[in-house]
Amino acid sequence: MPEEYTKETPTEISSLLAGGYNHPVSRLWQQKRQLTKSMLIYPLFITDSPEESSAVASLPNQRRWGVKAVIPFVKSLVDKGLKSVILFGVPSDEKKDATGSNADDPEGPVIQAIKALRQNFPDLFIMCDVCLCEYTSHGHCGVLREDGSIIRDKSVRRLAAVAVNYAKAGAHAVAPSDMIDGRIKEIKQGLIDADLAHRTMLVSYSAKFAGNLYGPFREAAGSVPSHGDRKAYQLPPAGRGLARRALRRDLDEGADAIIVKPSTFYLDIVADAAQICEDVPIATYQVSGEFAMIHAAAEKGIVDLKTMAFEAAIGNLRAGANLIITYFTPEFLDWLDE
Ligand code: PBG
Ligand code: ZN
Repeated sequence: MPEEYTKETPTEISSLLAGGYNHPVSRLWQQKRQLTKSMLIYPLFITDSPEESSAVASLPNQRRWGVKAVIPFVKSLVDKGLKSVILFGVPSDEKKDATGSNADDPEGPVIQAIKALRQNFPDLFIMCDVCLCEYTSHGHCGVLREDGSIIRDKSVRRLAAVAVNYAKAGAHAVAPSDMIDGRIKEIKQGLIDADLAHRTMLVSYSAKFAGNLYGPFREAAGSVPSHGDRKAYQLPPAGRGLARRALRRDLDEGADAIIVKPSTFYLDIVADAAQICEDVPIATYQVSGEFAMIHAAAEKGIVDLKTMAFEAAIGNLRAGANLIITYFTPEFLDWLDE
């Protein structure tokens, strides 16, 4: 027999929280910032064979697209409310050399994709990742000395030239992901000199950590380093102080927005960025390894995919992000009302 129930025994008034979130609407009201479609930036891998559409084994539901094939795909997303993409070029191996000469090849995948997307989707915001690792024979993000270390000045000059050429081709934003000291200043100056600074958003991957979460991306983009690792230019995972310094520096050098990457394992850094960079948009990049882990866990029945995708995104917003670069964008466009 269930106990006959009338009323709870009183407790301290200050102990009572439940009444504040007993309804779906009052639960929604607990968030400072609500996830909306306009916060999402979708990564696209563009190859140099125009008709290509090929799956990436380690990156669930993601494909490499040729410049032609990508248009109907993007159309289906724009129709659902997609506002922004970030482009990554995937050139064939014979296009690679020691200095990444083909990063800004006018006939190459990125510049061709910028033009095609601008033409087909006049309202879409087009961001371009700027890096050399997809285009260098050694797979590192800059130009190297004999001993394998990055030559700073040569690298940032090359990166700035690439960024300017993406902007010239019509990119609305350039986002350098190389992490080499001084590239924001060099790119900003390049944009000023080319009279493009007024119409090009400079989005810095400021706090980008070297770690184990970029594997599927490197498979997708063909940018696995042939020797060594990126630990001498991407930040060490424990380096919270370095991240704070990099955030301040990149603002000083002219960044219009900043990215923290990876996302969910680095939410303290996102909270730091929300303080240090409170006057610019803050994006988090939910990277390939984070995305693939959520999929793998869902397949194993450990988590529910949709619930987990939302929990991760909400965590990013709670920590202070206003934008999220995520491979879940197509799903979120289906899941969200606005
Ligand atoms: C290129 C770049 C990488 C990512 C974004 N830009 C790979 C890397 O630094 O090795 C990773 C994105 C992801 O894992 O989803 N420098
Ligand atoms: Zn790189």
